[in-house]
Amino acid sequence: LIFIAPLLISYILNSIVCSQEEIHRNNFPDGFLFGAATSSYQIEGAVLEDGKGLNNWDVFAHIPGNIRNGDNADVADDHYHRYDEDIELMHLMGVNSYRFSISWSRILPRGRFGDVNQKGITFYNNLIDNLLKKEIEPFVTLHHFDTPQELDDQYGSWLSPLIQDDFTYFAETCFRSFGDRVKYWVTFNEPNHFTDFAYKKGLFAPGRCSPPFGNCSQGNSEVEPLIVMHNIVLSHVKATKIYRDHYQSKQGGSIGAVLNAFMYEPLRDIKADREAVSRRLAFDVAWFLDPVMHGDYPVEMRRFLGSQLPKFSSEESKQMKLYSLDFIGVNHYSTLYAKDCIQSHCDTGGHAIEGFVFTTGERHGVPIGESTSIPVFFVVPAGMEKIVGYLKTRYDNLPIFVTENGFSQLDHQPIKEGYELLQDHKRIEYHKRYLASLAKAISDGADVRGYFVWSLIDNFEWHLGFSYRFGLYYVDYDTLERTPKLSASWFRGFLTNATCIQ
Ligand code: NOJ
Repeated sequence: LIFIAPLLISYILNSIVCSQEEIHRNNFPDGFLFGAATSSYQIEGAVLEDGKGLNNWDVFAHIPGNIRNGDNADVADDHYHRYDEDIELMHLMGVNSYRFSISWSRILPRGRFGDVNQKGITFYNNLIDNLLKKEIEPFVTLHHFDTPQELDDQYGSWLSPLIQDDFTYFAETCFRSFGDRVKYWVTFNEPNHFTDFAYKKGLFAPGRCSPPFGNCSQGNSEVEPLIVMHNIVLSHVKATKIYRDHYQSKQGGSIGAVLNAFMYEPLRDIKADREAVSRRLAFDVAWFLDPVMHGDYPVEMRRFLGSQLPKFSSEESKQMKLYSLDFIGVNHYSTLYAKDCIQSHCDTGGHAIEGFVFTTGERHGVPIGESTSIPVFFVVPAGMEKIVGYLKTRYDNLPIFVTENGFSQLDHQPIKEGYELLQDHKRIEYHKRYLASLAKAISDGADVRGYFVWSLIDNFEWHLGFSYRFGLYYVDYDTLERTPKLSASWFRGFLTNATCIQ
């Protein structure tokens, strides 16, 4: 079966041929990276194998009530044992890049309080080497939501400035071990979403929040997210400085960070709501990017949060401008409306407002775009062009990679032939339309250099467990067998400029 499976998959991938695609690979520049993305906790499994330490997701997911259906990722997609098979899936589709993350607790099971785990290093060495053999460029994230549990236990991880040196130590271990072959480094995945879900809403590990968010009582949602982001920004800057000073010129790579990048539209066609849109973006993507690029938090945040917002010393601001970023990674899925809540009354129904902005997916009951299985994920392809345009203007046309874009389906019944989980026409339509919008941004002058589908394979969708499926390949969680969805065939066709879906 091991030998036949790739042949079978290749046959399925090749079997759909037609013409007249509206978006083509050659609408994108030469050398453009096209790939698929994953993250370690969501796919690897092998929770305590080969010396790996516990991370805070390993612990969080086992606390009853934290994850839908009581799921956890102890096994997940068992990618740790099946990475070669997964590389083959990518090779068959014809991608030239793969975005994945390195599990911190697999490399440093106890953070700086213990040794480097050589078996963890070996795992990623094998993964990287085998990707390169297939001419697939590794695009590597260092922090994708999971942190060694020991660092939470010892000093509260991201709430303490001590984390900055721990993260830098981890980053340097990775640069030293893998940087001869890894040319794209991402320090953080979605720090804006991470702080919000882990330290305000209590939905991500370590599950801190305070009323009115969730029902946990072990946090202070007013200031904790601000402190956490401050430590993330400074960790990013320190790790980047190490990379620039000691590795970059020898190794010839680049370093960036990835943001969760929703786009926003004014709910009403009035000035106050247009301002609400800019304020929302300032409290969202610019919260991380402004300090890293311009040396301080956005003025909108200072105005609304005053002394609650931590301050950078002048030395730190100087370092930030010097070390900043080589590229911005954009995880873009959806667009929401923004409504001003300074001049108007907002009934938020207990939902968060940032900078007196209320966001919603509906106007007079009409959704902003077609709904998907995740409530805030609407299909609004124009949002891609707009968010890329926003970043291009605000950050001097720094190179951009779309590091995630994807469509989820709710898994509510077992797989059967012809069932829409495999015949995923909606996912294909989604990607085609978002790619077309991205192509427009590029023809308007944005320096976009890559696009990654979230995700290569169905996987563990954090607090939502395995119930949401984003993969190009279907995973049967009982047998761990991977089956290409129609979207995998479409992607292959798109990448080879040869095929399309009728
Ligand atoms: C963002 C995150 O980076 C990824 O881990 C998550 O699964 C997808 N978006 C889908 O929600």
